[in-house]
Amino acid sequence: MFEKITVVGAGNVGATAAQRVAEKSLARTVLMVDVAEGIPQGKALDQWQSGPIEGYDTRVVGANDYALAAGSELFIVTAGIARKPGMSRDDLVKTNAGIVKSVGAEIKQAAPNAIVIVVSNPLDVMCYVMRQATGFPRERVFGMAGVLDTARFRMFLSEATNVSVEDIQAMVLGGHGDTMVPLVSCTTVSGIPITQFLDQATLDKIVDRARNGGAEIVAHLKTGSAYYAPSAAAVQMAEAIVLDKKRVLPCSAWLQGEFGLKDVYCGVPCLLGRGGLERIIDIPLSADERAALHKSAEAVRAVQAIV
Ligand code: NAI
Ligand code: 2OP
Repeated sequence: MFEKITVVGAGNVGATAAQRVAEKSLARTVLMVDVAEGIPQGKALDQWQSGPIEGYDTRVVGANDYALAAGSELFIVTAGIARKPGMSRDDLVKTNAGIVKSVGAEIKQAAPNAIVIVVSNPLDVMCYVMRQATGFPRERVFGMAGVLDTARFRMFLSEATNVSVEDIQAMVLGGHGDTMVPLVSCTTVSGIPITQFLDQATLDKIVDRARNGGAEIVAHLKTGSAYYAPSAAAVQMAEAIVLDKKRVLPCSAWLQGEFGLKDVYCGVPCLLGRGGLERIIDIPLSADERAALHKSAEAVRAVQAIV
């Protein structure tokens, strides 16, 4: 268990993530920080009072500044605006870059040894902004998107094969956008290649639906974007770190030559443990998948150039 985890942004993703952290007893204290007056305080009290029912002792607190964030071992950053119908994740870049930059400066001040999981969109570029603002090494600044995109891909595959999602192994790499790369060659049902279960046309449709998984939900909600699966994904990463599980999960990482990519944040397989992002697993890809990953990284780089 960590002493303190701070969630920045007490909106849909942030508040749900804080609650999941408490329910998993990952920290003695969970702090929510948000600029909206009263919101983090009110939500924190409500969550804290769920403890006797859900069986956790975690103290959940809310604040509008970072005084209580001092010494947090882990931050989950969800501050920023979310997508509305017709908006791409990249449309959020200027507003969210300003917000993430200011949050990064506060984190550096309050907890210079912390690990930071970025969630704010456009995800890969916000990781870049956070790394610049904190000056932290890449082991301590990385992003959540691949776990979410992979969860969507696995769920759709589970439905199509009529097999439990527990037995569907897959990984979605690349930037968190329309160019993301579901690795069909690494997708199996308990080790059996997925191509033995589904034909190419069905697989293509599922890949497409996974790529548009976020937009599909925005189109229904109209006033915001997904948050149940995103918060679960961020907290799965947090759990791997707190419990030093050495899990291999797709995360947005600062690449320094891995997969032939340099100076860009992009989703790749990463080993997560107490040290944060402890290792990038640089696996050989097929020529098509490698080309798709490079195309996706270039799409991130184009937005990175704006900030
Ligand atoms: P939301 O609008 O419900 O919550 C955002 C919160 O951030 C608000 O409460 C707002 O007051 C707060 N905020 C704004 N400026 C702040 C600042 N300077 N300091 C602290 N808090 C601040 O939005 P939601 O749905 O929670 O999404 C949050 C972000 O996460 C969005 O950018 C969204 O696009 C992104 N997201 C990313 C996903 C991913 O896979 N990486 C998945 C889902 C959402
Ligand atoms: C999603 O994929 C909005 O990025 C967010 O749902």
